[in-house]
Amino acid sequence: MKKLCVGDLKVGMFIADTGLSWLENPYLYAQEGMVTSQEQVDALVKDGYTDVFVDPARGTYVFEDDGRTAEQHMADGVLATPDVSWDGAEAMVARHEALRAEMATARKLYAEAMQNVRSFLDAARDGHMLEVAASEALVEQVIDSLLRSDDALVSLTKLKTFDEYTYTHSLNVSVLSVSFGKALHLPKSKLRLLGLAGLFHDLGKQRIPPQVLNKPGKLTQDEFEVIKSHPERGHALCAAGGIKDTEVLRGIIEHHEKCNGCGYPGGLTGDAVHLFGRIISVADVYDALTSRRVYKNGMLPNKALSIMYNMRGEDFFPGMVERFIKSVGIYPVGSLVRLSDFSHGVVVTANPALPLLPLVKVSFDERMRPRAQVLVDLAEEKALHGLRARKIVDCLDPRDYKLDIAPLLA
Ligand SMILES: [Fe+2]
Repeated sequence: MKKLCVGDLKVGMFIADTGLSWLENPYLYAQEGMVTSQEQVDALVKDGYTDVFVDPARGTYVFEDDGRTAEQHMADGVLATPDVSWDGAEAMVARHEALRAEMATARKLYAEAMQNVRSFLDAARDGHMLEVAASEALVEQVIDSLLRSDDALVSLTKLKTFDEYTYTHSLNVSVLSVSFGKALHLPKSKLRLLGLAGLFHDLGKQRIPPQVLNKPGKLTQDEFEVIKSHPERGHALCAAGGIKDTEVLRGIIEHHEKCNGCGYPGGLTGDAVHLFGRIISVADVYDALTSRRVYKNGMLPNKALSIMYNMRGEDFFPGMVERFIKSVGIYPVGSLVRLSDFSHGVVVTANPALPLLPLVKVSFDERMRPRAQVLVDLAEEKALHGLRARKIVDCLDPRDYKLDIAPLLA
C-alpha cells in the first residue's frame, strides 16, 4: 500500500480503503476502485481531499518496483532509526521465557482491567464524576506486568476475544502506550502518567450524543465538529475528576494532533505536541486498525504497521512509527506466519536487530495440521544456512483457521 497526494493519482491506480476512520482522517479519500480519468482526480482535489492510499497489486498502473516487500521497507526504516539495539540470541530466549511465565497472569489482569474500564466509561456516559483511584491501581498492575514481560499483555491486545471495542480500545491504548513508553526508556513515574492518559484518552466520547457517535452515514460538518470536541471534553472530565497532572491532561487533549499540523483541536505541530500525545496517537491508530468492529474485520498487525509506516512524518512525528515498530516487531508476537518450507508457526519473540527474522514456534504443517512444536530462531538459521535458511513468506489471519493463538504463547 502506498500513500500519495490525491493530485498525484494516475489513471490505472487502484484506490484502497485502509480502514482508517474518515471521522478522524477527513481529508483521506478511501472509496475503493480504479482511477479511470484525470477528470475524476481533478474532482477529488476540488472536493478538498488531500491524501489517498493506493494498492499497487490491484491496479493496472505500473509502479517502479525495487523488488522489496513492504516488510523489508519497514525493516530498513527501523534499522536506520537510532537507538535500535539487540542483546543477542540469549536475550531473545529469556524474553520468550518471560512471556510464557507471564501469560496466565496477564490474561487474568486483562479480564479484571476490562471491569474497571467498563465501570468508568459507563459512569462518564451516565453523567457521573470520574473516580481515578481504581484506574491508578490498574495502571500500576499493567506496568508491573510489562516490566516482567514486554510481550504478554501486548499480545493480548490483539488476541482478546472481547467484542466491545469502546472498552477494549481504552485498555489497549493504555497497554500499548505504556509498552511504547517503556521502549522509549521513560521512567516508571512517567509510565504511570502515560498509562492513565492512554486509559482516559477517549473518555470525552462518552459525552458525545450516541446518534452522532454511531451515525452510520456520513456526518454533517456540524456533527463532525461535535466529534472533534471529544479530546477537550475528555480533558475537562479528567480535570473535574481531580487529575491535576498537566502531562496526563495534555496526553488526552493532544492525542489527535498531527505532525503536519492537520490534527485537532489545536492544529499543533512540531515540538508543541507533548510526547504523551505523540505516543498515544500511534497506539490509538494501531489499535483502531487491528481491532475487529461490527462493520470490519481487524487488519493483520503487519499490514496495519505498513500503513502507519506510510504515514510517518505527516500524521506521526519523525522516528515515532519506526520506534513503535521496533518495540512490537514487524511481525508482532502472536502473528501466525507461513515459512518458506510451508510450515506454519506463531511469532513468540521479536528480533529488533533483524526485524524480519523473529523467534517462531513452528506448530503446524503445510496443511495447518498440528505437528510437534519446535522453536525456530530465524536469525540463527540465517547465520547458519545463509540463503538456504527458512524465512517468513506470509502472515495469516488465525480467525480463518479458527485458531486460538494465546495458548501457543503460554
Ligand atoms: Fe480519540
